[in-house]
Amino acid sequence: MTADPFADWRSRVEAALDQHLPDPAHDPVRLHAAMRHAVLGGGKRVRPLLVYATGTALGASEEDLDDAAVAVEFIHCYSLVHDDLPSMDDDALRRGRPTVHVAFDEATAILAGDALQALAFEVLAAAPQTAEARIAMLAELAQAVGVAGMCGGQALDIDATGTHGHGQSKEKQLAALERMHALKTGALLRCAVRLGALAAGADADTRATLDRYADALGLAFQIRDDLLDIEGDTATLGKTAGKDLAQQKTTFPALLGVEASRDRLSALFTLMQDSLARLGRPADALSLLARKVVMRNH
Ligand code: IPE
Ligand code: IPE
Ligand code: MG
Ligand code: MG
Ligand code: MG
Repeated sequence: MTADPFADWRSRVEAALDQHLPDPAHDPVRLHAAMRHAVLGGGKRVRPLLVYATGTALGASEEDLDDAAVAVEFIHCYSLVHDDLPSMDDDALRRGRPTVHVAFDEATAILAGDALQALAFEVLAAAPQTAEARIAMLAELAQAVGVAGMCGGQALDIDATGTHGHGQSKEKQLAALERMHALKTGALLRCAVRLGALAAGADADTRATLDRYADALGLAFQIRDDLLDIEGDTATLGKTAGKDLAQQKTTFPALLGVEASRDRLSALFTLMQDSLARLGRPADALSLLARKVVMRNH
C-alpha cells in the first residue's frame, strides 16, 4: 500500500475536531453524543484537506488554517445528518455506521445538525486572522451554507426528486442539474478553498483563479458521487448504494448516462489542472486532490 500523502493533515484535523466537540460526559449528553457520532469515526475530510492544501500553497501555516478546516467539516457533517433524515433522503447508513437519526432519534439528529452549524461559526469567529479577514471568512461560510449555497441546492434537489424534468429539454434539465450540484455540493467545497485563500491573505486575482479550480472540483465531486451510487457497493461506500435510482433522484448519470458523465469528469479534471497551472506557484496538494476527487471509489 502506498503511503497516504494527506495522513498528517487528516490526523491534525481529527484531533482538532475532537477537541472542539462538546464533552460527552456533560449535559445534554444525548445531544453531545449525537454530535460526536456525526463528526468522528469516518469521513474523507476532503473539505479540510482543501483548506490546508490551498492555504499552505499560498504561504499560510497549518496553525493559521486549523479553525477554518474544522468549521467547514462541522458544516459538512451537519449537512449529512440533515440530508439523511427521513424527510430528506431517508438513509440508514453513513460512513459505515447507522445515521444519526437511526442511532439516536430524529429530534436529536435535527438538533445535532443545528448545533454543529452554530459551532462551526463559533470556531471560525475565533480564528487567528485579523478581524477584517475573519469577518470575510465568516461571510464566506454563511453564503456557502445558505439559500445561495448548500441549503438552496438541497431545496432544488428535493424539488427535482421524482419529477423526470417535467418534460423540459435536455439542455434545460442539464443546466438545472448543474446549478443544483453547484449549490448543494459545490458551494461548500469552493468555500473551503476560499477560506484557505483568505486565511493566507491571497489577492483577488489568485482567489479568482482558485475559484475556477474549485468550481470544477465541486461539480466533479458530485458527478463522481452520482456515479458511485450506481457503480459502487454499499460496503466500500459506507452508505447504501443504488439509492438515487430507487428514489428517482435527478443525477448526472440518470440524465446523460454513465459514459457521458465519465467524459464530463475527465473534462473537469483537465480544467482543474489548467487553472492550477495559471496559479504561478506550486500547488501539488491541490493537484493531487483533483485527481482523488475524480478517481475516488468511496
Ligand atoms: C458526501 O460527501 C456528500 C456529498 C456532498 C456528495 P463526502 O463524500 O465528502 O462524504 P464523507 O465526508 O467522506 O463521508
Ligand atoms: C448531499 O448529496 C449533499 C449534501 C449533504 C449537502 P447526496 O444526497 O448525493 O449525498 P449522499 O450520497 O447522501 O452522501
Ligand atoms: Mg441528498
Ligand atoms: Mg443523500
Ligand atoms: Mg449521493
